[in-house]
Amino acid sequence: MSAILILHGPNLNLLAQREPEIYGGLTLAEINQRLVEAGKEMGLEVRCFQANSEGALIDALHEARLWAVGVVFNPAGYTHTSVVLHDAVAAISIPVVEVHMSNVYARENFRHISLLAPVCAGKIVGFGWRSYLLGLYALAGIFSDST
Ligand code: DQA
Repeated sequence: MSAILILHGPNLNLLAQREPEIYGGLTLAEINQRLVEAGKEMGLEVRCFQANSEGALIDALHEARLWAVGVVFNPAGYTHTSVVLHDAVAAISIPVVEVHMSNVYARENFRHISLLAPVCAGKIVGFGWRSYLLGLYALAGIFSDST
């Protein structure tokens, strides 16, 4: 079975406590559970990992190239600042889909910038936890037939 990494960046461990009016009321564990179940229905093994530091996220991306066929990545605040995560995504050959739960384009100007978007396969914003689900569908589409 093909495996997908769902990678969560900083502060997403606090989902359900952190600004629930923006990010919703589900915990990270509840979201991960839904994604694992959705993956099974798509014939994909879903593994989830969260880290607050750039180094741990970089290591997860490097390791994923050895076992995963793709990554659904919410780089959170690092989206807007991180050259090293840009370089890590560029360094691996598997597709990475950038996702954000909130509509970053309806928020502060600094959130409109993504250093990762140019090296990602695509980007999904604004659908709450379902942004991850749509990212998973996008990867499933890439790995199904080409029509
Ligand atoms: C976020 C949007 C980022 O701007 C913010 O720093 C986050 C979460 C989102 O999922 O909407 O931490 O990536």
